[in-house]
Parts: sequence; C-alpha cells; structure tokens
Amino acid sequence: MSGRVLVTAALPYANGSIHLGHMLEAIQTDVHVRARKLAGEDVVFMWAADTHGTPIELRARKEGITPEALITRAHAEHAGVFRDFNIGSDIYHTTHSDETRIHAEAIYAAMKAGGYIHTRVTSQLYCPNDERFLPDRFVRGECPKCGALDQYGDSCEKCGSTYSPTELKDPHCSICGTTPEARDSEHLFVALGQHEAFLREWLRSPEEGGRTRLQPSVRNYVMRWVEEGLRDWDISRDPPYFGFSIPGYEGKKFFYVWFDAPVGYIGATQRWCDDQGHKLDDYWRDDAEIVHVIGKDIVYFHCLFWPAMLHTAGYTTPSRVQVHGWLTVNGEKMSKARGTFILARTYLEHLPADYLRYYFAAKLGGDQDDIDLSMEDFANRVNADLVNKAANLASRCVKFVHGRLNAQLGLPAADAAPLLARAAERLALVPGLYREFESGKALRLAIEIAEDLNQFVTESAPWKLATSDPERARAVCSAAIYAGKIIAAILKPVLPAWAEKTERMLLLPAPLTFANAADPLPADHMIGAYEVLAERLDPAGLAAIVEASKETLGGPAAVEGAAGAEGAEAAEAPTYTVEPLTAEASIDGFKGVDLRVGKVLTCVRVKGSDKLLQLSVDLGPLGSRTIFSGIALSYAPEQLVGKHVVVFANLKPRKMRFGLSEGMILAAGASDDAVTVIELDGRSRPGDRIS
Ligand code: MSP
Ligand code: ZN
Repeated sequence: MSGRVLVTAALPYANGSIHLGHMLEAIQTDVHVRARKLAGEDVVFMWAADTHGTPIELRARKEGITPEALITRAHAEHAGVFRDFNIGSDIYHTTHSDETRIHAEAIYAAMKAGGYIHTRVTSQLYCPNDERFLPDRFVRGECPKCGALDQYGDSCEKCGSTYSPTELKDPHCSICGTTPEARDSEHLFVALGQHEAFLREWLRSPEEGGRTRLQPSVRNYVMRWVEEGLRDWDISRDPPYFGFSIPGYEGKKFFYVWFDAPVGYIGATQRWCDDQGHKLDDYWRDDAEIVHVIGKDIVYFHCLFWPAMLHTAGYTTPSRVQVHGWLTVNGEKMSKARGTFILARTYLEHLPADYLRYYFAAKLGGDQDDIDLSMEDFANRVNADLVNKAANLASRCVKFVHGRLNAQLGLPAADAAPLLARAAERLALVPGLYREFESGKALRLAIEIAEDLNQFVTESAPWKLATSDPERARAVCSAAIYAGKIIAAILKPVLPAWAEKTERMLLLPAPLTFANAADPLPADHMIGAYEVLAERLDPAGLAAIVEASKETLGGPAAVEGAAGAEGAEAAEAPTYTVEPLTAEASIDGFKGVDLRVGKVLTCVRVKGSDKLLQLSVDLGPLGSRTIFSGIALSYAPEQLVGKHVVVFANLKPRKMRFGLSEGMILAAGASDDAVTVIELDGRSRPGDRIS
C-alpha cells in the first residue's frame, strides 16, 4: 500500500444554497480527514461543486443569466460558507472544468471500446411548449397504482411505488403545466448487467474474503439490487441541457449529470495535482485508499455505477463508501414552513461554527442512523459537556496556576496517576475511532476525562491550599492541565481553534498531535494566561435561527403555494433593520462627491481574494478606470459586464495588494453576500454626472 488516502464528500449541487444537511456531511468528512492528518497519515480531501443538469439550466434561464454565471455565483457562495465553517478541504473545484471533462471522456471512451455502451430509441415525455424532454422530476400527475394526485414522474410519495413517467395518468409539465407528449429519441445506455461479475467481486464481504468497503447494512441493500437484476443506465440527455457534449454527438447529446458528477472527484484531484505538483496516477491509478462520504440517497450511484465506470477505465475503485443518515430538526424532516430548513449562512449569522461542528461530531457514528438536531439537546450538549466540563476544567486550573502559583506547573499529583493513566489509554483509542467515523465515541472519551479530573480537582480543592500547601495545589492543577492537553488533542479534529488556544496558553513546545498529547511537560514548565475556550450557548440564538429561517425562505406562503406568496403584497412593516440615518447634511457636502455613469467593460475575479472583483469601467470622455470592488460574493463577473453603474469618480486612488483601484462602484446591501449594485438604464451615457 502506498499509504496515500483520498477522501471526498458528495459534491453539493450548485442549484441551491448550502443547508445544515450538507453541513452534517461536510463536518463528518472534515473531522475524519483532520483526525487522520493528525495521526500522521498522508490524506487529501478532494471536493467540488456539482454543476450540470436540467435544474441549473432552467434556473439560470429563469433568472435571465447564463448557467455559467449561476454556477460561478453558487461556487463562491458555497466556498464562503465552507470556509466559515472551517471545512479544510484541499480544494473545492467544480465539475464544469476541463479536468472533469477530460476524465469523463476518457471513461466514456473506455466503456465504448469495451462494448458496454448501447444505443437504443426510447420514448420519453416531451413538453411541446418548453420544447424539451422532461426529466422524471419535472412531470407531475396521478399515480398509476393508487391514484394519488400530483405525484412525481418516477415515484409516488403516497404508496411508494415506482413507475416510468409515461405510465403517469393525466401528466403535466411542472414548468408550464402543459400536457406533455411521448416522443422518441435515441439514447446511450451503459449495460450495467455486463459488470455484474465485477460488482459481485467488488462487493464481496470480509467473511467471503473481500474488503470492508461498505457498512454491512448498506452492503445488504446494494446486494439486493444486484440480485434483483442490474438495469441499463441511460447516460445521455437531449438539449437543451447544461453539461458536457458526448464525443461524437457534439451539441446533440449530453452526458447525464450523474455520469460526470462523480468524475468531479477525479477532476478536483487533477486540478489539485496540477497546482501542487503531485501526480494524479498516485491517487487514481495506484493502490491509494479512496474514501467517499455520502448520504443515503445516492448509494446506487456510488456503489454500482461508479465502481463499474472506474473499473472499466482502469482507475482505482473506492476502498470505502461511508454512508451517513439524514439530518432532521426537532425530530422532523427539515421544513421551510416550520423554519427548520436552516441555511448554513443563516446559522452563521447567529452562532459560532464550532458549536455545530461539536454537536454534529458528537452525534455522528459509523452507522447510518438519522441525526436529529434538537434545539434543546444542542444547547445542553454544548453547555453541559463542552462548557461546564471540558472548558471549565482548563479555565479554573489554568487561571489558578497563572494567577496564584507564578504560572509554573509542577509534577502531576501522585494520587491522580490512575486517572491520567486512564486518560492516556482513552487517547490511544481515539485515532482508530475517528478512522471508523466514530467521532461521537471519540468525543465522549474526551468528556469522560474531563469528568474524572473535574471530580478530582473539586475534591482536592486546590484554591483552599494556595497559601497553606501551594505545592499540593500546584500538583493537583498540573494533573488537570496535563489532562486538558489530552482533551484538547482529542477535540482537535473537531475544534481546531480550541487546540490552538491550548497550545498557546500552555506554551506547548509543538502543536498537539495524538502522539505527543500525553507527553509529560518539564516539571517547572511555565504557562500563559487563560484564553476562553468556549462560551455558553444561549438558546435564544437557536430560536433566532428558526425565526430567521422562516424569513430567508419566504415563510410558509412562499413554500406551500407560490401563488400565495406572490399575491401577498407588501404594506407590512419590514422585518429587518437598517443603519440609522446620519446627521443632516448640506448640498455642498454632496457636491464634493463626483458621481459618474460608468459602463462595465470587463470584470474578472481577483486571484487570492474571495471578495474582490476587478472591473474596467468606461467613463466615456473621461477614459476608463480600473476598480476593485468587494462584491464577488454577490455577483459572478459575467453578470456585470455591459451594465451602467454609478462610480464615485473623484475618490482618491487606493493602492491595493492586487493593483491600483481608481474609484468605487455604488451598491446597497447589509452584508458582503447580499449586495445589489446600483444600475442605470441604457439611456444614461458613460461619463454623465449624477447629481
Ligand atoms: N450532487 C449530488 C452529489 C454528487 S456526488 C458525485 C447531490 N447533491 S446534493 O447537494 O443534493 O447533496 C449533497 C450531499 O448532501 C449528499 O450526500 C446528500 O445525501 C447530502 N444531504 C442533503 N440533504 C441532507 C440532509 N437533510 N441530511 C443529511 N445529508 C443530506 O446529491
Ligand atoms: Zn412545459
């Protein structure tokens, strides 16, 4: 074995915003990766946004922008959220990339050469009004089995039966409501049945001499699919479609989004290798360990299609597909109406990322049980375990030694030795637990250490001994601090900041790892001042998230009946706050600001900055200007080209790291990711003064 490990999380779909369900997976993956890195393993986390398919194409059309602009915007938004949650992926690439296309084409070519691709004419529902074939999810009608109304084209939510859209009674196009008609079209299929022998081998359980690639329950249902017979897989789609053209059918047939989506894992690796000087083959053609973390809904793709694709083209197949459960909130499916469909960004506006990292990691295990975010349980876990136990231990002992005992540690108290020995034994279990995705169990061990030592400290009451027996007090606190170091190492994959603070306040000679966390410190080691490790979680913050989630998503009306939302006109008091008005001013003050009409000629992202766009703006007879504007979280560059905007033109030029900014573009908005640039219509002429 090369020892190289490549881990992925599923590629979030660029059609929507990141919500807490996505965060469950991102946090699970991040913790696994950080823990293995901390254990000294050679691990990379390859990730990307999934950008192709009908929903993206339709949504872009609706917004009047190109799909490219839509996915660029989504990518910036996703990347910003993941950064703010401290998700340490080595790359967040996009499937709409040359790297992904090249590997998708290579896999397709290998499948074709191997005789696995078959063309066949099929009949599918077509909307004559929208002039497109309708994906199953874009057709609604009566269930052919139970007669339930308004069901999707592929399955009935009432009776659970599955069928083909052409069987649906009284079908309607869910874009425009027209009755679709059946039309013939030639499609390309992968005959998955031809891969049955390989898949059976790949799925062989450890008892049968195979590897543990899947959790036993997952393996059971994947095997059931194999037993029931592997169906052909339609990998082509007709235009209009946003995706990669199939070689030989340029512009006429496109790869189905699920064909190139997992190839995005390889595309991301390719890009990362190119940027960092590594070799792709070390990961995808060698015996590297490949670990995919996914949700329950995408098992079929990852455990049947994907290994077959990789195998045919000679790529390394996954060593492990780790499936997690579904996130529910307060015991129920996330619901927009109840305010429990929580966007990751909304969460961040109210609470620190670390609380959620801790809570999810504490709840997650190696099984695929659903994970419930109960607001009460959330506050309890954070406050009872993290604040009252783990942080409290460090807080009282570090403060005491620093303030009352000359900041000097001593040898740990002899009567704490059994507790410290148990702490070290627990620490020894931790790398294995994290590797098996048992983060809940690993964190439990950290809390148990805190419980043991808190009890010891409380019973020994060092604060009573500061003057009568300072050496005993020092020994008691030193034992607790020694344990605190182990606790911090166990928490480190989940709460890197906690570990860093511990490293700083204990003036540790090297960053904490699982290997060095139990090392003794020199008997006279000096420590620094206490840094707050965790603050109480105020349940009011949680209530505010639920309230805000009702708002961001438009509330019940917007979700349950779009017409209702559009009908419900304004006139209500605004539910948001704005900056208060500044003091009264004279017209002369305003005249000092020279505002001009500018036309955006070019607009590009700034390398090395998430927030900035670099624009070149035409001011007509006044010439053109280069302006850096902090609006990249709200606009894809293409969206601005050609627009007439308001330029603060006599602003003193400012030298920035990226170049000289010669003015400012006016915009409204309370936060960087919700900015609207002020736009003038085409009647305005570049250079005109605005007064
Ligand atoms: N784009 C595909 C994945 C392609 S992988 C080559 C996709 N995207 S997704 O955005 O819909 O979901 C991304 C991941 O988030 C999936 O693993 C999915 O199971 C997971 N989750 C989405 N909602 C979730 C919950 N409510 N709870 C837990 N995980 C959830 O599928
Ligand atoms: Zn239609």
